[in-house]
Parts: sequence; C-alpha cells; structure tokens
Amino acid sequence: MRTESISPIRLDGKRTLVTGGASGIGAATARVLSDLGARVAIADIDGERAEAALGDTKAVAWTQGDVSNAEDSERMVAEAAGALGGLDLVFNSAGIGDDLVPVHAQDPERWRRVVDVNLYGTYLVCRAAGRIMAAQKAGAIVNVSSIVGLDAFPGRSAYGVAKAGIIHLTKTLACEWGGVGVRVNGIAPGYTRTPMVQALLDRQVFDPSVVEGRTPLRRLASSNEMASAVAFLLSDWASYITGVVLPVDGGWSAYGAAGDVGKHMPVG
Ligand SMILES: NC(=O)c1ccc[n+]([C@@H]2O[C@H](COP(=O)([O-])OP(=O)(O)OC[C@H]3O[C@@H](n4cnc5c(N)ncnc54)[C@H](O)[C@@H]3O)[C@@H](O)[C@H]2O)c1
Repeated sequence: MRTESISPIRLDGKRTLVTGGASGIGAATARVLSDLGARVAIADIDGERAEAALGDTKAVAWTQGDVSNAEDSERMVAEAAGALGGLDLVFNSAGIGDDLVPVHAQDPERWRRVVDVNLYGTYLVCRAAGRIMAAQKAGAIVNVSSIVGLDAFPGRSAYGVAKAGIIHLTKTLACEWGGVGVRVNGIAPGYTRTPMVQALLDRQVFDPSVVEGRTPLRRLASSNEMASAVAFLLSDWASYITGVVLPVDGGWSAYGAAGDVGKHMPVG
C-alpha cells in the first residue's frame, strides 16, 4: 500500500518486457517507458526488426519468438528477466489483425491463428511473467484489448473474440494475483496510426474520415497516446487500480447514437 505523497511518474530501474516491441504501439511504449527510467527488453516474432529497434526504443535487450508458442513465450520471458536481472513490468502488445471477412467466408485456420497470437499469446506471456512476479510479490502487467473487443465489428470476429477474451483474462488474472501484489490491467485502443493500420489504409480497407466522424475527438490516435496510458497503468500512480481495461479511444466507446457524432451537437 502506498501512503506517501507521489512524485511525477517515474519508472526508474523497472525491469520491463514489451512484447511486439519492434513496431507500432509496442515500440512507442518501449521508448516512453525507457524515457521514464525503465530498463526495457523487447520481444518480437521479427528478430531483425527487434534488434534494429533497439536504438529508437532505447531498449537494452531484445529477444525473438512467437508469443503463441508456449516454449517461445517461456524462453522470451526468461531471456528478458535474465538480461534485465529480474522482471517488474510487462506490456503485452504483440498482435496481428484479421482478414475483414464475414464469419461464413473466413478461413478457419486464419481464424485460429488470430485468436492464438492475440489471446493465447497474451495468456502465455502473462502466465510465465506472473510466476516470477508472484514469487517476488510485486509486479504489474498491461494487456492490449481493442474497441473491437468491446462491441461487434462485422468482419472482425476472430480479432473481436480474441480482444474480448483479453478483457476477461485481464480481470481474472487481477483477481487471482491481487493477493500477491501483482496488478493486471489493459487498454482498449481506438484506431491508432501504426504500421498495422497504415497497411489497412494503403489497401483502402477503411476510410479514415468515417472513423474520424464516428470519434468524439474527431481524429485517429497516435502510438504515443497509447504509451502514456500504459505508462500510467504500469506506474505507482495506478497502485490501487487492477482488473481495469481502459478505453483509449477518443470517446469512441462513449458514443451510441446513429451517424456522425458532429451531426447531433454541432459546436460553434
Ligand atoms: N493500431 C490500432 O489501431 C490498434 C487498435 C486496437 C488494438 N491494437 C493492438 O495493439 C497491439 C499493437 O498493434 P500495432 O498497431 O502496434 O501493430 P504493429 O503491427 O505495428 O506491431 C505489432 C508487433 O507485434 C509483432 N508480432 C506479431 N505477431 C507476433 C507473435 N506471434 N509473436 C511475437 N510478436 C508478434 C509484430 O512483428 C509487430 O512488431 C496489437 O495487439 C493490436 O491488436 C492496435
């Protein structure tokens, strides 16, 4: 329990693993956590990219593997803890998108892969890291859900199921590990400009102006806006917060009316 007053957010010396740290939200968060004083190791399925991201993210170590493979997850957590001399914090950002096709047209193997990487991979990394944290009776984890995990998006059933599952997993782990001082929270990002989303924009899979019109803050997010929410949830500023999945979505999940948000309450 923290009773003293609190200084600005710092993560000095916190030994931190960021999965999916070679790109997008993971890379931005690794950099922000490093800037706040954490010692960060990044894990990614793309080893070359992870190694190349060391400078940009200011991470001090990297490891390669597939989070949805149980042996890889155990090894990556062990390697990160070995390189850092222990493990205090984890941010689970590794994930893949889906095919944007309706359920009846989906390739079942692709469906399974999307669930495996996003949900099973998050579970496996939590499981390996949680054992270390429970033994030391301290630690914090942040998982990544999505606005697609909060409500149904047609064509995104595998991703939505996985991200909804991450919300439940986060709550369950928070309840199981609260007694040993390990906090588990999540973020549910809205559309964020990362390589994953840029690839969809390049393929004209969605029109950014439609998303902007549906979003009370009228724009897509930056990766740094996800990173600051993660830093807060991992820090002592959130010392009494566990089992929460925070929408970081510009108000997307608050909006329930039909049509563009600006249509109802024009300002000015
Ligand atoms: N960008 C968005 O709008 C958005 C919105 C909601 C949630 N998210 C979630 O945020 C997380 C990061 O997404 P992003 O947009 O930064 O994507 P990204 O593609 O830029 O980064 C994802 C990283 O994860 C790695 N990765 C993929 N599969 C892996 C595996 N099996 N094992 C280990 N590493 C793996 C990739 O190599 C990549 O470096 C994902 O979980 C994604 O679902 C993104």
